[in-house]
Amino acid sequence: MAALRIALYNGKGGCGKTTLAWNLAMGLARRGATLLVDADPQGSLGDWADWADTGDYALEFCDWTAFQAGESKDHRYRVYDCPPRLEGEAIQAILGQADIVLLPVLPSPLDLWASRRSAELLRDWQDRGLGLRAYFVLNQVEATSALSRASQSAIAAMGLPVLATRIGRRAIYRSAAVEGLSVYHMGKQAAVARDEMERLIEEVLT
Ligand SMILES: Nc1ncnc2c1ncn2[C@@H]1O[C@H](COP(=O)(O)OP(=O)(O)O)[C@@H](O)[C@H]1O
Ligand SMILES: [Mg+2]
Repeated sequence: MAALRIALYNGKGGCGKTTLAWNLAMGLARRGATLLVDADPQGSLGDWADWADTGDYALEFCDWTAFQAGESKDHRYRVYDCPPRLEGEAIQAILGQADIVLLPVLPSPLDLWASRRSAELLRDWQDRGLGLRAYFVLNQVEATSALSRASQSAIAAMGLPVLATRIGRRAIYRSAAVEGLSVYHMGKQAAVARDEMERLIEEVLT
């Protein structure tokens, strides 16, 4: 069976592609063999991957060059961390083969509008009829704040659905990353983050 391919994409940097790719891949690896493809040559994931502790998780990493060389084995899931660019060789290749694209956005109108071009390009890909599913993922959401009306209309104008699962702004995502770990490795203090990652995974898988 072919792997389910999930890409984290947004032309803008700093919206959570790498953070979500890493934790998502770790959560998927608990379900089945997972390959995390780091397509960002400037990304921190490649450096991380060398020393990160994946413990008993069925997670493998490779960078874009190795991935293209075709050494990857059979995996049930494949997660791609895209570079912060709209287009380019790696991005075209990834979007051309992905089943699902997640577009992380910070929930402010400004950040949302800054992701407009990325959303447009994803809709263009969808128009090619390859069955690509694409969703916004609200990331770094403050616990107390409801989505403003301005944010809601920005989202509506961009024509992509939003995952019901929102990812909170939580120090644990940063501290896990600093230690080369995911929220799945951080015990009780990461329970809430782990819960929301699990909900995100279930939502994406159904
Ligand atoms: N949900 C979150 N809560 C707290 N910090 C986050 C969250 N998501 C991302 N960050 C932090 O925001 C910064 C940018 O995230 P990153 O995943 O590197 O974005 P990108 O890969 O899109 O450039 C990093 O310092 C990361 O630790
Ligand atoms: Mg990144």
